[in-house]
Amino acid sequence: MTNEIPATPDPAWHDVAATGEFTDGAMRGYTVAGREVVVCRTREGQWHALDNICTHGFVKMHEGRLRGVRLICPLHGASFDCRNGKVLGAPATKPLACWQLKIEADRVLVAPPSA
Ligand code: FES
Repeated sequence: MTNEIPATPDPAWHDVAATGEFTDGAMRGYTVAGREVVVCRTREGQWHALDNICTHGFVKMHEGRLRGVRLICPLHGASFDCRNGKVLGAPATKPLACWQLKIEADRVLVAPPSA
């Protein structure tokens, strides 16, 4: 005899938005499980999610600009590659942590980086 275990949503994944809320080149910020995340949709239609707090100072990255894959801080202009979080321009020196992101049935789901 086997016990059927009902499927439960993976607690690591959080549904944050509908895909239709984003135009190409748009980004939005969310608070997920007490942590800030920025979701980016590039002009090429690629989706990425990263920590939304600049590693140089306490400012939200989604209030800056997204130029191609370059995510630009609104305060001092540091830039990061939204595909991998790497620093592309000073004054920041530490990368942004990348979140997992998946699209399911026109919904955007994100999961925090593993500690
Ligand atoms: S706070 Fe982002 S570059 Fe200074």
